[in-house]
Amino acid sequence: MWRYNNNALPVIIRTDRGNAMTLNLDNQLDSNSTIHWHGFKIPAAMDGGPDTPVAANGTKAYTFTMDQPAAPLWFHPHPDMETGKQVYMGLAGVYLLEDNITKTLEANNALPSGDKDTVLLVQDRRFDGNATDAVRNLKYMDMDMDMDGMLGDTILVNGSVVPKQNVSNTLHRYRLYNVSNARNYKFALSDGSAFKVIGTDGGLLDEPTDVTSVTLGAAERVEIVIDFSNYAVGSKVMLVSQPFNGDMMGMMGGMNGMNGMGNMGNMNGNMGNMNNGMSAGSMAGMAANGAGLSIMRFDINATETETVTLYTALPANAEIKTRHTSIDVTNATERQFLMTMGGMGNMQDANMSQMSFVINGKTFDPTRVDEFIDAGATEIWNIRNMSPMAHPFHAHAIQYQILSRNGVAATGIDLGWKDTFLVQPGETVKVIGKFEAINTGDYMYHCHILEHEDAGMMGYFRVGATGVLGAQ
Ligand code: C2O
Ligand code: CU
Ligand code: CU
Repeated sequence: MWRYNNNALPVIIRTDRGNAMTLNLDNQLDSNSTIHWHGFKIPAAMDGGPDTPVAANGTKAYTFTMDQPAAPLWFHPHPDMETGKQVYMGLAGVYLLEDNITKTLEANNALPSGDKDTVLLVQDRRFDGNATDAVRNLKYMDMDMDMDGMLGDTILVNGSVVPKQNVSNTLHRYRLYNVSNARNYKFALSDGSAFKVIGTDGGLLDEPTDVTSVTLGAAERVEIVIDFSNYAVGSKVMLVSQPFNGDMMGMMGGMNGMNGMGNMGNMNGNMGNMNNGMSAGSMAGMAANGAGLSIMRFDINATETETVTLYTALPANAEIKTRHTSIDVTNATERQFLMTMGGMGNMQDANMSQMSFVINGKTFDPTRVDEFIDAGATEIWNIRNMSPMAHPFHAHAIQYQILSRNGVAATGIDLGWKDTFLVQPGETVKVIGKFEAINTGDYMYHCHILEHEDAGMMGYFRVGATGVLGAQ
C-alpha cells in the first residue's frame, strides 16, 4: 500500500468547527500528488486540485479554518490523471468535523458516541496471486473493462476483508464511507431489518430516517444508527451490499425504452456480445457493479442497558437544519450539466478503451475554466445523465441540497446536504447550493468514478473574478 505517515487504514483526523489546521504534505511518491479536502468549504489555493500539484519530493502546507457544520468529510490525492491510482493504492483519509450541535447531542445521550461511533471505510480491490500467498500485490487497471471504472473482487472495510465487530445489544452509530474508485453499494442488513440514516455527506439530517437499504455511489457517505437490541445476545448479523442492476451491461438491457438515446441504437449488438462473457455477473478479478456482497459482520455478544435515546429533530439553532428557501430558488442562476459517454459509435468489437466520458460534450482541459460563478452566488445546477451507467457527480467547496430528481421533489435522505450524489441513467438531478463569498478561485466539478475523472469527465468552475488557470 501507499500510506499517509505509514498508518494503517483508516487515517482519521478529528477536529471541531472553528479550529484552524495546518497539515504538511511531504510527497515521497515519484509523481505529482495533492491532498484534496473533499466536502470542505475552503479557499481554492488550499483545495488541493490538479491545478496545485505537489511535485515528487516536494512539500506543501495546507492551512485552513473549518467553518461549516459537523460532517463526515474526507481527503484524498487529486493529481491530474492519477487520482484513481493514488487513491486505489491506499491514499485516502477520514476527516470527522464536530461542532456544538453534535457534541451537545452526544453529551445529552441523543447520539451514540465513543466506542459506539465507528468509521467504516469501504473499498473494493483486486490482488494478484492466491489467497494462500504471503504477499499479494494490488492490481490496478489491468483489464480492458477497468477503463469504465476500476472494480475489485475483494471488499475491504478499514483495510480488512469482511471484518467482524463485537457489539452490545444497544444503538451503534457508523460513519459509512464509500471510498471505492467506481463501485456503488446498496448497504443493508442481511436480515432485512430497518436502520436509521442520521446524516449525509454534509452533516446530520434534521430527522433520522428509517430505511432498509441505502445506496452510496463512490465518494458518498452516510451516518447510520443500527439498533442491536432487536437481536438475541449470541446472534450475528451481516452488513451486506444487496444485488442491484448496476453494471453497465445490465443497464444496457434497460435502456431500450429510454427516450433520447437514439444514437446508442447501434450499440446493442456489440454489447450483446460482451454479455456472453459476463452473464454470471462477475469475471475473474472483478465483481460486477451491482453484485451482492458481504461487507462485515456484527456479533451481538453482550447485554448492556441502553443510555441513548436518539434525537428525533435537531435543535432549532442547528445551522445544518436550514434549507434554501423558495426565494433562493427563484433568484438562483441555473446551469445545465449533461453527462454522456462519447465514442460509442466507434465501439467496434466492443472495445471499451475507445470510450470517452464527457460533461457538456467537453473533456477536461487543465487550462480552461468551464463555468464562471459570482462569489457568494446561490445557484441551481441541473445534472442530466444521458449515458448508460450511473455517475456520482461532485463539486468542490460546496454542499448542495437536492431539490428534485426527474422533477419529483426530494424526500427522506435526499433532504440531507450533499457534496456528491448519484445520477442514474436517464435521470436529471436538480440541486441548489451557495458558493461562499470567502472561497474564491478555481475549483473542480467531476464524476467521482475516479477512472472517469482521470479520463476527463471533469471541469473547472471559477468563483469570483480571479483564479490561477491561464496564468500558468
Ligand atoms: Cu473527492 Cu474532486 O474530489
Ligand atoms: Cu472534492
Ligand atoms: Cu462517471
